[in-house]
Amino acid sequence: MKKTIARATALFASGAVLLTACGGSNTSTNTTSNTSTNTATNTSATRGVSGPIRIGIAFAQTSNVALLGQEGVAGAKIAEKYFNDKGGINGTPIKLVFQDAGGDEAGAINAFQTLINKDKVVGIVGPTLSQQAFSANPIAERAKVPVIGASNTAKGIPEIGKYVARVSAPVSIVAPNSVKAALKQNPKIRRVAVFYAQNDAFNKSETEIFQKTVKEQGLELVTVQKFQTTDTDFQTQATNAINSKPDLIIISGLAADGGNLVRQLRELGYKGIIIGGNGLNTSNVFSVCKALCDGVMIAQAYSPEHPGEINAAFRKAYVEQYKKEPPQFSAQAFTAVQVYVDALKALDKKTKISTIPLNQLRTELNQQVLAGKYNTPLGVISFTPEGEVVQKDFYVAQIKMENNGSNGKFAFLK
Ligand code: ALA
Repeated sequence: MKKTIARATALFASGAVLLTACGGSNTSTNTTSNTSTNTATNTSATRGVSGPIRIGIAFAQTSNVALLGQEGVAGAKIAEKYFNDKGGINGTPIKLVFQDAGGDEAGAINAFQTLINKDKVVGIVGPTLSQQAFSANPIAERAKVPVIGASNTAKGIPEIGKYVARVSAPVSIVAPNSVKAALKQNPKIRRVAVFYAQNDAFNKSETEIFQKTVKEQGLELVTVQKFQTTDTDFQTQATNAINSKPDLIIISGLAADGGNLVRQLRELGYKGIIIGGNGLNTSNVFSVCKALCDGVMIAQAYSPEHPGEINAAFRKAYVEQYKKEPPQFSAQAFTAVQVYVDALKALDKKTKISTIPLNQLRTELNQQVLAGKYNTPLGVISFTPEGEVVQKDFYVAQIKMENNGSNGKFAFLK
């Protein structure tokens, strides 16, 4: 499994960056902004980490993918305040360093390289998309820096490497729940049309699970329609699907394209149930499909109602700030930060982490992350040796829009 190698110097051959880290002479500032100019040398490859413990956050803060990424940022920020108010890592605060991973592979790679080589974080949370993770995570793997995915749900993410884990349950566990809920709501469903974004790794992975579930439930897959996450016009595919007379439509896309597709299906007269996949699991779709979002069913890996003290605290902080219930992506981001915090606390009890050189700390942190059990807003979670999340509770919610077409909510189904 994980190797415990303490290396005297940091030698990160990631992309074009080759850097030898030495500690202590400079100061770091402005670590919670999207800066890539700050230098963080309060960590040392040879002398241990001093000052706040820096954890990197690489979510999409720009591009259409920010519709998902900004929910991750919100959850991470709540976690930073929550855990620092509770004393951080046995008295040492954490400091989240945010780097915008944008919506594509290049953005995620840049964010990872900056966090690893310049910001010298102990571990990374992100990136937003699985499509980005398949390119960026190998960089962290080569540099032996732990990564926790907090929204990556495609098949194969933990298998990227020994330093890659996730708290976002995979499509195989989450997606089938919504099909079963749709059948419960309308047992007469027989004919199913499936849409998916063919240029995105997660959506290709999710549609496989949806199509498998449709067949396992004895339903007829009447058509499979493809699109791109950058598309805005779905008239051709929507018309094709409606002509196949489906009584259930399942969409694997991201928020902007998925929301537009929902709207155009309804405008063209489709009246049956629509299931949206994990990429539509955000209230940011409300501004895209407005009143026509009403009724869309989406499986959830988090419920705001989940019992327990930590979820109550997270939910209260989120509701106070955003005046709505916390979404899954925020809860998962909070959870990823919590996993690092809890694992760092456990490590620090064994050996003061301020005495551990950064390279060694990253490796030991990775081992500790995988070994631990965490009582989080998602419930009690742990990891398989590969880094796959082990989680118990899943849910399905249905979008309920108010008559004004602007405001809505996710109503959890019993
Ligand atoms: N769940 C989506 C992905 O993995 C956001 O890309």
